[in-house]
Amino acid sequence: MLDILNLESLEPLARERLDPMLFDYIAGGAADEWTLAENRTAWSRFQILPRMLRGVASRTLETTILGTPVSFPVVVPPMAFHGLCHLEAEAATARATTAEGTIFCASTVSNCSLEAIAEASGVGPRWFQLYVYRDRGITRGLVERAAAAGYTALCLTVDTPLAGHRERDKRNTLRMPSHLELGNFPTSHADQNRVGSGHGSALAQYIAAEWDPALSWRDVEWLQSISPMPVVVKGVLSPDDAVLAIEHGAAGVIVSNHGGRQLDGVPAGATMLGPVVDAVSGRGEVLVDGGIRRGTDVFKALALGARGVLVGRPVLWGLTLDGAEGVRAVLAHLRAELDLAMALAGCAGVGDITRELILQSASSC
Ligand SMILES: Cc1cc2nc3c(=O)[nH]c(=O)nc-3n(C[C@H](O)[C@H](O)[C@H](O)COP(=O)(O)O)c2cc1C
Repeated sequence: MLDILNLESLEPLARERLDPMLFDYIAGGAADEWTLAENRTAWSRFQILPRMLRGVASRTLETTILGTPVSFPVVVPPMAFHGLCHLEAEAATARATTAEGTIFCASTVSNCSLEAIAEASGVGPRWFQLYVYRDRGITRGLVERAAAAGYTALCLTVDTPLAGHRERDKRNTLRMPSHLELGNFPTSHADQNRVGSGHGSALAQYIAAEWDPALSWRDVEWLQSISPMPVVVKGVLSPDDAVLAIEHGAAGVIVSNHGGRQLDGVPAGATMLGPVVDAVSGRGEVLVDGGIRRGTDVFKALALGARGVLVGRPVLWGLTLDGAEGVRAVLAHLRAELDLAMALAGCAGVGDITRELILQSASSC
C-alpha cells in the first residue's frame, strides 16, 4: 500500500516515474500558470473557526451527491488519458473509486471505452463527462451509450471551446503514446492525437478540429432532451453563469477552472464558490474543484456550501505510483484527513459543517 504523508508529496514521486512530456501534460496549466498556483493559494485564504465540546466521538462522512449515496463527499473528476499513468488506465481508477465508495466521472477522452469503465465500476456510481463534438451524431451516440451503460449523470464541460494555451505541451510537442487508444472512438481519433500537424500539441489540434466552439446555453436544453440522465454543468466561475445553468435545467454546477488548464488569470474555484452558492440559492447542487489537496480544503469547501468536491491530479499520481491500490490510498488518505478536520472542528457529520465555521482572511481582497 502506498504510504502517504500528504497528497502534495506524491507529485515528485510520480514525476520520477513518468516521461517528462507526460508529466508536464498532467501537472501543467495554461500560460504563466498563475491560476494553477492560485488554485492552491486560494484555499489558504480561508480559515476554519472550530467549535468545541460538541461530542465528536462518533462521526460519519457519508452524504449524497445528486441523490447518490457516497462514503465521503469527494468525486473523482473527469481526466483524459489515464493510460498515460498505468496500463489498466481508467478501469483501475474506476475500480478503486467504487471500492472507496464514491463517484467516478469518466472523461469523453478516456483510453478505456465508457462500457469498459462501467464494467470496472461494477455496482459503483459513475458519471459521464461530455465534450460536445461538432458532429452531433457523435455527441448523441456518446449520450446514448452512457445511459445504456448505467451512468447516472452527464457532466457537461463548458470551459473548453478550445484548448487553453498550455505552453509545456507546445514546447514538448505533446503526442499520445502509440500504445494508447481513445476508447470511445474509432482508431482515427487516437491517430490524430499521435500525429498532429508537425509542431505544437496534437491534443490542442484535435480539440480545435472536433469539439464544438459554438456551444451555447440552448445546447444544455438540447442535451437534456436527448438524455435520461441529469446534466451537471462543469466549468463555471461566474455566479451569473451558474444561475443560467440552473435556469436551463441543470441539476447542478461544478465551480471549476479546469485545474488552471484553460484561461490563465481567472479566479480559483475556492474564491467563486461562496458567491455561486449564494446565487444558486438551493436550486441545484454546487460542487467545486481546483487545488484541493487537504482534508481541511474539503472542509472549507463544504463550509462554503459545496455539496461535494472533486480532486484531480493526486488521483493520477496515485494511479502512476501503484495502480488501483494507489488511487484507493489517495482517496483513503483524503477521507482520513477530512475525518480528523471534522473531529477537531466539532463536526460529527458533514451536515454540521456550516458557514459559521469559516472565516475569510482580510488579506484576500
Ligand atoms: C491531466 C488532466 C486531464 C483532464 N481532462 C479533463 C477532461 O477530459 N474533462 C474535463 O472536464 N476536465 C478535465 N480535467 C480537469 C479536471 O476534471 C479537474 O477540473 C481538475 O483536475 C481539478 O483540479 P486539480 O487537479 O487541481 O484537483 C483534466 C485535468 C487534468 C489534470
